[in-house]
Amino acid sequence: MADITTDVLVIGTGPAGAATAALLSTYGVENMMINRYRWLASTPRAHITNQRTMEVLRDLGREVEDEGYMHATGQDLMGENVFCTAIAGEEIGRMKSWGTHPNSRAEHLLSSPSHMNDLPQTFMEPLLFKTACSRGTQSRMSTEYLSHEQDAQGVTTVCRDRLTNQDITIRSKYLVGADGGNSKVAEHAGLTFEGKMGVAGSMNILFEADLSQYVAHRPSVLYWVLQPGADVGGIGMGLVRMVRPWHEWLIVWGYDINQPAPAVDEAHARKVVRDLVGVADLEMTIKSVSTWTVNNMYATTMANGRVFCMGDATHRHPPSNGLGSNTSIQDAFNLAWKLALVLKDKAGPGLLESYEAERAPVAKQIVTRANKSIEEFGPIFKALGLLDSIDPVKMQQNMDARCNDTADAEEQRVAIRKAIAHKVYEFDCHGVEMNQRYRSDAVIADGQPEPVCAGDAELHYQPTTWPGARLPHAWIFSGSGAKVSTLDLTGHGRFTVLTGIGGQGWIDAARIVGKERGIEIEAHVIGPRQQWQDFTGDWANAREVRDSGIILVRPDHHVSWRRDSISDDPAGELRRVMASILDK
Ligand code: FDA
Repeated sequence: MADITTDVLVIGTGPAGAATAALLSTYGVENMMINRYRWLASTPRAHITNQRTMEVLRDLGREVEDEGYMHATGQDLMGENVFCTAIAGEEIGRMKSWGTHPNSRAEHLLSSPSHMNDLPQTFMEPLLFKTACSRGTQSRMSTEYLSHEQDAQGVTTVCRDRLTNQDITIRSKYLVGADGGNSKVAEHAGLTFEGKMGVAGSMNILFEADLSQYVAHRPSVLYWVLQPGADVGGIGMGLVRMVRPWHEWLIVWGYDINQPAPAVDEAHARKVVRDLVGVADLEMTIKSVSTWTVNNMYATTMANGRVFCMGDATHRHPPSNGLGSNTSIQDAFNLAWKLALVLKDKAGPGLLESYEAERAPVAKQIVTRANKSIEEFGPIFKALGLLDSIDPVKMQQNMDARCNDTADAEEQRVAIRKAIAHKVYEFDCHGVEMNQRYRSDAVIADGQPEPVCAGDAELHYQPTTWPGARLPHAWIFSGSGAKVSTLDLTGHGRFTVLTGIGGQGWIDAARIVGKERGIEIEAHVIGPRQQWQDFTGDWANAREVRDSGIILVRPDHHVSWRRDSISDDPAGELRRVMASILDK
């Protein structure tokens, strides 16, 4: 007999676990999340928060999204991305990043109602955690997952209450392993992985120091410090990262992975800070030091029966591109509505299989991208002449050579500019953030070929309603003139039908099929003198179907089906489509 029962037990209260719990509670599903520690993230690891993640927060409620912005550093202060020899030293170059280049800014503004920002994990986790608990999640801190066993009806999980040192059993219908990069749940569930753990060693030094005079004129979240002779490990060079402008910082510094993780004392930490900032008598307070390893591993299976894993438990990679927490929260958005519908008996268990089919390719993509981004520092090192020698004096001479009035130096300057510009694949990789297209049984193809991205698919978002893609954002207007995003009409745990003039049959079909299945299917007409108006024509340009066509959108904003125009039997078609998507 279990000590506790719940519908979904979530192991971990990080971005993945807390987002899952928040979404499940919002959808009215009983759930419990546990964490082996007494509180949430104690260091601000993740910070770059992309538009797609902010759309998930927006779906949880405008108040959740707004609170995120309230705690975040805004996009305007994120993007100079400086390469220098020290914060107070010589600047080598910079590139506009994180959607702050005017061209990229336009793409960001056209793509989403939400904005990229810098929201440290120490703020994101409490926001998600509070949202979850205030909406019904039971949370149990100081509770460590030990093992689980599943049978046809559910999962029995053994945990240790770390306050009493007693073991407890929790019986749930489903178990979600959001227990981070050393996931025991993934291991016990027998998930399969590709790649390697521990490819480099890194240390984080969190400190306070007022650096305004060196950085406020070139605001950025990241300052890359290249110091000839410095230990090039971890993510490749010293990184001074803004946590709060411009007085709280995190240094990421490498250590030799072939040696045990160093015990960094206060004196060592202060030296690293002073060297990278370049001010010998800098006043500072060291807040914490921790070590971590760079991994290059992704799960090829993300579920086993009633057990689902997500977040770092399934994609383990360096912080390059800032994709970890973002992808974790997006995993949660993919799984939560499926669990909700299955638990409410509105969908068959087959729907849950689409989680792995849809998210495992994303895991592979982002792990590969993040690790490739590390390699792409190589051309910068090469162009600066840092790879030709290990002698710091020679390395400095090679770097200095770029200032000469010679043909070689001009070539070197070209190579440096080119190598820095190529880092757009790490620092402004909008396509990787936004182009996720799903292929699974929860998506019904319409026979059209997949639209090719007009630009580089890693760098640029390509809006499309091709089934599997995220619904394109367009601003539309209510009768009273209020402006909402097409994404705002969808989501919130419901399927949504979008149509135009001539599509009344789809509206009626949504009502009929929704009633038959006992689920809410939202339905909206967009067109002149309709419920919503497309004054700018942006929606008409984006929707890729005719006025009387239909776009059927899943609760996670992804298009599950579309049809170019009205059919003879809209209710029959929608009935067939919903039965197939919901496996019921
Ligand atoms: P996470 O590790 O955050 O959480 C795991 C949870 O499980 C914790 O609550 C833990 O206590 C709990 N747990 C583990 N084992 C348990 C057990 N046995 N029993 C009970 N509880 C257990 N990402 C990003 O999107 N943008 C960014 O800018 C950055 N930047 C960044 C910088 C640096 C320096 C690092 C190291 C990392 C990043 N990241 C990032 C990555 C990001 O921090 C990471 O991807 C997320 O924290 C992953 O979230 P999860 O919820 O999956 O795991």
